[in-house]
Amino acid sequence: MTAAGSTSLDSATGARRDDATTEARRAALDAIAAEVRACTRCRLAQGRTKAVPGEGHPDTEVVFVGEGPGQNEDQQGRPFVGRAGELLVRWLASIGWRRQEVFITNIVKCRPPGNRDPEPDEIAACAPYLRRQLEILDPAIVVTLGRFSMGHFRPGSRITQIHGTHAPAPAETGTRDAEAFALFHPAAALRSTEVERQSYEDIAALPAVLQAARGRRDGVPAAGPGDAAPEGRDDTTADDDPGTMDPDSTTVADDDEPTLFSAES
Ligand code: URA
Ligand code: SF4
Repeated sequence: MTAAGSTSLDSATGARRDDATTEARRAALDAIAAEVRACTRCRLAQGRTKAVPGEGHPDTEVVFVGEGPGQNEDQQGRPFVGRAGELLVRWLASIGWRRQEVFITNIVKCRPPGNRDPEPDEIAACAPYLRRQLEILDPAIVVTLGRFSMGHFRPGSRITQIHGTHAPAPAETGTRDAEAFALFHPAAALRSTEVERQSYEDIAALPAVLQAARGRRDGVPAAGPGDAAPEGRDDTTADDDPGTMDPDSTTVADDDEPTLFSAES
């Protein structure tokens, strides 16, 4: 999908659409968020404080999908605002991205009691919301966080084998032409320094994967192997796009107000 101005790219938002489509997308995402906040389609509605529809930039090319809200998320109605979210922000910063320029949501939008795993029938009940969000956003990349999200976008895979890799997302997920890129869940990285180290290495590949997916979707040949993302976690940036890099982005604090769909208004 090419729009005027599509060559002026932020690292992950792409700034790829005109104002009318941006506003239409924002309104459609807001409408889904309102439905989610009122939803009683599964038993998770009973235990929630606030539903967590997800939030982010309506023009983004990259959607992160976690498992389900935890305690902090349940209280605030926003995804990934606790310790796992702080680590996710550091992962993003390591490649020069900020949470405000991606979209972040979950497989289930309401907190499973005591942070238990979501049940298959709960995942199935909630799936239409994620599918509709993805139909609107039409991302080039879906980044799965943890095995429940991976199971939805990379069915039959094992996280220990496919973390750091990507494969086409099935069409029934609502994506049109997206790669599903698997990461460990940040909560797992908080429990294991080896998983944390590995995850910085995995996410370092993401800018090049986005660049290749963008090129394919626009019908442009993918960048050569020499353009692959550098290895390692330190000041790894979206190096195809130095002109729009925020010089502070590798150390950005999560203090800006994100572009929200889940804020109280
Ligand atoms: N873990 C998740 O999977 N999602 C959140 O939103 C927060 C923590
Ligand atoms: Fe509705 Fe999803 Fe919440 Fe279940 S988890 S009540 S399906 S929004």
